[in-house]
Amino acid sequence: MIIYHLSTECYPVAKVGGLADVVGALPKYQNKITGIEAKVVMPWYNKAFVYDHGFDIIFDGFIHQGPNMLQVQVLKEKTDALGFELYMVRIPGLLDRDNPYGYDDESFQFLAFQHGVLHWLSAMEIRPDILHCHDYHTGLVPFMIEHCYEFKFLKGVKTIGTIHNGEYQGMMSWNMANYMPSFDAYKWGLLDWNGLINPLASMMKCSNAFTTVSEGYLEELFISFRGLESLVREEFSKAYGIINGIDAEVWNPETDPMMDFNFTIKNAVEQKKKNKEKLCKEYGLKPDLPLFAFIGRFATEKGADLLPDVVWKSIKQSYGALNIMILGSGNPYIENKLKEYDFYYSNFALDLGYKEYLSHKIYASADFLLMPSRVEPCGLNQMYSMRYGTIPVVRYTGGLRDTVEDISTGGAGLNFTYPGVDDIIHAVNRGVSLYQEKDVMKNLIYANMKFDFAWEKSAAKYIALYNK
Ligand code: ADP
Ligand code: GLC
Repeated sequence: MIIYHLSTECYPVAKVGGLADVVGALPKYQNKITGIEAKVVMPWYNKAFVYDHGFDIIFDGFIHQGPNMLQVQVLKEKTDALGFELYMVRIPGLLDRDNPYGYDDESFQFLAFQHGVLHWLSAMEIRPDILHCHDYHTGLVPFMIEHCYEFKFLKGVKTIGTIHNGEYQGMMSWNMANYMPSFDAYKWGLLDWNGLINPLASMMKCSNAFTTVSEGYLEELFISFRGLESLVREEFSKAYGIINGIDAEVWNPETDPMMDFNFTIKNAVEQKKKNKEKLCKEYGLKPDLPLFAFIGRFATEKGADLLPDVVWKSIKQSYGALNIMILGSGNPYIENKLKEYDFYYSNFALDLGYKEYLSHKIYASADFLLMPSRVEPCGLNQMYSMRYGTIPVVRYTGGLRDTVEDISTGGAGLNFTYPGVDDIIHAVNRGVSLYQEKDVMKNLIYANMKFDFAWEKSAAKYIALYNK
């Protein structure tokens, strides 16, 4: 069975968040299953990876986007270095930039990507068994292959859409229809949601099946889905929740080259201590106090707006009995507030920016990882932290509730239900008390490290769905 994953991110080529981790790992694990050939198609970016690897131009053609004629080149990485065939679509002027997101003309970019991929496949008469579309950026593909005249060759190819984050739907005005490949206008309803073209809604309507990245999140979409609640009800018969895994080859504390002192479950306690001492030294923190960390985008869905108050209140209320370290960037108001507290509080360290290596060091060093997410479709941070013996302190939502159980009910993490400053601090205080009990902490480190979030299980679930 031949599967093409279509995505705007793929680790280590280009990563903004968990989507990249998933698309960089899932096909690799699918390829270990007999009879499966999984490949990835993504836009071309001006990133180190494309210069460090050899590529062949395997296709060079043109598409029309409204009045504009665009060159489309498809480049294939020569050695399948990632464990799968990697194709990058380059469209000068649109898909030849530094980053996946952040441009005003993103609707044009994503339309061109989807159009370009389908044009290449049709022109070269490549007919995959499954087109697996990730998030709204590729959400129009299921519609396009059925209802755009240009892609007759692909009609009937099965499509799966995966919703990594329903907060982003890619809505655009109907004027943009002029920039799509011509389609059967009678079918306009399959693109529309409340008077706009909504790629995520269209993906749910037109794909053969769609998935969310945890079962818990799928349940929540019925009550909170930025206006698509009734659609998920209508299309429920083809909805599936499949939890993400983690790439145990990349995220392995025994071999991880990005951390300072590697460890196994046998020497985790001592080695984690060494990692923590080094990190605390570098950031002026106090190694004898518990270290709580947050890693992520400064967005309200992550509860990042609550962090500044959590920082000053928890340090004040505990009379400085804990350290907090934050790695991330995003909303400038949050950044500025945190910078201010970084200046005032010696128990708090901030590193603004995106630093892959530092995230590994923090997972390896921290005692607790804080995730006050308002919305968390799956969440990978808690799984990485658990594998690195760091106790997750998470809001009970989406994928977090599917993966982290509170110690009070036999689990190895800490949960809280309401995303509010006082509730977070209450959970943090539970962590501070636990920290005093060395034996309990040791057992929690072991228990967390023993959790199995390997991709194999979820990769097999996707294959079962493709077969269906
Ligand atoms: P999301 O995709 O919603 O941001 P996930 O938990 O699925 O959330 O994945 C986030 C990924 O991005 C993880 O691999 C995490 O380690 C990484 N990450 C987030 N922010 C940073 C950062 N500032 N520096 C390094 N890695 C980060
Ligand atoms: C999205 C979600 C996150 C999930 C990731 C990978 O970015 O916000 O919860 O883990 O996709 O599926």
